[in-house]
Amino acid sequence: MSEKELIVQKIVEGTVIDHIEAGKALHVLSVLGISGEEGKVITIAMNVPSKKYGKKDIIKIENAYLSPEITNKISLISPHTTVNIIKNYKVVEKRAIEIPDEFVGIFKCPNPNCITNSEETMATKFYVPSKNPPLLRCKYCGRIYSPNEVM
Ligand code: CTP
Ligand code: ZN
Repeated sequence: MSEKELIVQKIVEGTVIDHIEAGKALHVLSVLGISGEEGKVITIAMNVPSKKYGKKDIIKIENAYLSPEITNKISLISPHTTVNIIKNYKVVEKRAIEIPDEFVGIFKCPNPNCITNSEETMATKFYVPSKNPPLLRCKYCGRIYSPNEVM
């Protein structure tokens, strides 16, 4: 039995988000819009040993199958993350996350004059003019940012 299996049990059905950058699991859950109040069984392991990266976080959500559209939202927070779909105890799908073409309602525009900062109910929207390195362009004020500026 490997070290990580000692820390978090395998699940029968659901989604395992693995190789999350160490310490980012709670930020990842927040971006996914998961508060825990949905009632799903969720296990979170943070800063556990990882062969590939030294340390990592893991999130296991039972009986929920997260689509790429949803999990791609975390691409700028933890790019080297793997999403595993588990059915009947087996990994039936393993995918890398990808940077989507736009992010809606996730990041905050740092421009104090941007309309998204005065209209509280307005969702932010950023286009991705470049993916490598990733850049974000605010739909509303047009400014271009690197990911660390909007988080
Ligand atoms: N997992 C789980 N429940 C299962 C099967 C797998 O929680 N029934 C978890 C494993 O603990 C692991 C992840 O899903 O964190 C991926 O499983 P697997 O592909 O078997 O592990 P690795 O080969 O180590 O994955 P990778 O190559 O992506 O590192
Ligand atoms: Zn803006």
